Amino acid sequence: MYEPVSHSLLNRILEDLKPETRKQDLRYFYIRLGANFYAIYSLFHQLYGGRADFDTQMTRLVQVMAERHIERDDELKALDIQRQEDHNWFLSQELVGMALYADGFAKDLPGVQSHLGYLQELGVNLLHIMPILKCPQGASDGGYAISDFRQVGERFGTLEDVEELARSMRLRGMLLTLDVVVNHTSDEHQWAQLARQGDKQYQDYYYIFDNRNVPDMFEETMPEVFPEQAPGNFTYDEQMGKWVMTVFNTYQWDLNYSNPAVFIEMLDVILFWANRGADILRLDAVAFLWKKIGTTCQNEHEAHLILQLMKDCCQVTAPGVAYIAEAIVAPVEIIKYFGEDAVIAKECEVAYNATFMALLWDAVATKNAKLLDQGIRNLPQKLDRATWLNYIRCHDDIGLGFDDRDIAAAGYDPRAHRQFLVNYFTGQFDSSPARGEPFGENKKTGDMRISGSLASLVGLEAAIDSGDEKAIQDSIDVILLLHSMILSFGGIPLLYYGDEVGTLNDRSYLDDVSKANDSRWMNRPRINWDKMKRRNQHGSVEQRIFDALKKMIAVRKLIPAFADFNNRELIETGNPHLFVFARNDWLQGFSQVIVVGNFDSTPQSLNLNDLGNRGQFQFTELRDLVTGEAPAMFKNQLVIPPHHFYWLSDQRHN
Ligand code: GLC
Ligand code: GLC
Repeated sequence: MYEPVSHSLLNRILEDLKPETRKQDLRYFYIRLGANFYAIYSLFHQLYGGRADFDTQMTRLVQVMAERHIERDDELKALDIQRQEDHNWFLSQELVGMALYADGFAKDLPGVQSHLGYLQELGVNLLHIMPILKCPQGASDGGYAISDFRQVGERFGTLEDVEELARSMRLRGMLLTLDVVVNHTSDEHQWAQLARQGDKQYQDYYYIFDNRNVPDMFEETMPEVFPEQAPGNFTYDEQMGKWVMTVFNTYQWDLNYSNPAVFIEMLDVILFWANRGADILRLDAVAFLWKKIGTTCQNEHEAHLILQLMKDCCQVTAPGVAYIAEAIVAPVEIIKYFGEDAVIAKECEVAYNATFMALLWDAVATKNAKLLDQGIRNLPQKLDRATWLNYIRCHDDIGLGFDDRDIAAAGYDPRAHRQFLVNYFTGQFDSSPARGEPFGENKKTGDMRISGSLASLVGLEAAIDSGDEKAIQDSIDVILLLHSMILSFGGIPLLYYGDEVGTLNDRSYLDDVSKANDSRWMNRPRINWDKMKRRNQHGSVEQRIFDALKKMIAVRKLIPAFADFNNRELIETGNPHLFVFARNDWLQGFSQVIVVGNFDSTPQSLNLNDLGNRGQFQFTELRDLVTGEAPAMFKNQLVIPPHHFYWLSDQRHN
């Protein structure tokens, strides 16, 4: 949009650009800056308009965007243009991701590079590499406490290794996702150190208070993220003699985004990593970006303005780069991280589908899809050109973040039901084979979360210990059922490293004092590559899981209806054990796939009349796309074996 006030400012800014910047060919940059400038100006003004130095800060912002654009190499610029044409690239069913710790997976970055072939063998073509930056020696929240946003931690390798990996992945047609921890730094970051030494400019980078007055006001309404290991949201710093806001661990200092200098620094960091060759940036803990007394300090309107601004600026400098929002919050809040009052995504193009994740775990424990169905039905429609990151497990705990009203609508008492789930997954019932551990218990609110690896949570560990082959097969079936869901739901499936071979809980963290108080470490394994060879041994647990997943991944990539164009339709059936939905391909000729998952441990049937009128879909011609075979039928009933799934199509159309 053209608007005279902002555009006359833009003219002045461009005249003031450093001479070496002005000498460059900035054609594409200027076109995009012109297109986005009014939006950038308005957002920056809403956040920082009251400041006397507004114009100076705005000039600095544009200077950073221009400098990073000049620095961006030609190959990446070509990719920007290519993605402008192919602007639905991240909605494709051909994407299949995996999240991993570089050190846990393969020792370091060169190790990851040497195992790209393994990932390709499985069919993974998008990697999220967990934080690799310099962080404190002891506890570092798994690398989420960053001491230098531009320096790779020695144990992982070097910056050159990252660039080399990015290049090598690009050649293989794989996408690289890296973290940008936007909400906080470690207390060893230079900004924190300068703040500690009394430097006012850097104290203003954080929320720092002389006494408890303001912190106490904040505490009245702020929940605790780590109530056991780091209770409270403020930490007293001896050297400064002041209190600093630390929402996560005591050594993670929250950045103060009401200071525009912080915004500009962090945008610079985002663009720095875009320029190292990351295709996607995972913005960590975005729900926490804005703090306001009297609120939970999560999901504040300004947090969304900051993300929009980060997106608008990135679109000017590195438009080919997509963002993932890591906002593990209530279902109605998560969806806002795509953008509010918009048609297409304008904050982050991708968001963790924490709702679906938690609902899947509910279905595992209850053996029915009542809450799963209810929760998904009530998930607001997302924007166009926005997509989910669908996952079962990740490096974090499982939070039971579904809506209380949905729990009630599914026929349970919310508090008692949550307690049941925690008890179930921590194996407190004889009937539960799960071996999880509680995480983040909050005695004040009764809130509790769950740690544990996928395999151990679905009973594989217990089954192997007891040598019960039937139980082993049943756990494998659940592992595959869950994957069949994230691979077909709509969005990017994100596998978690180790799960592809049924990796069990790792309890070695208990021997490390910097980890022992954080049970999330039990689901952050160190891969044993000798053991991995068992995936080639016919009949081994590893082989049964790996090969089945590999097949499903290959099939997913061939099903256009699995691309995410908001083309999912939930189907209500009379059988609560089944989760059933249709995926429709409206774009490339009409075709449909009906996904059916049986969460019960006994066979279930589905009355085909419940599927309603499916247009040209002939129920007599059903075929399961994974096995290529006709599913079992009895009269007018589809029969679904225990913990089994189907991806059904009418064989005449596929
Ligand atoms: C994110 C990460 C989690 C970390 C937190 C603080 O939620 O996934 O591991 O503890 O941010 O950085
Ligand atoms: C994130 C999530 C929270 C999670 C935490 C650490 O901030 O919001 O649910 O438990 O990180 O695991």
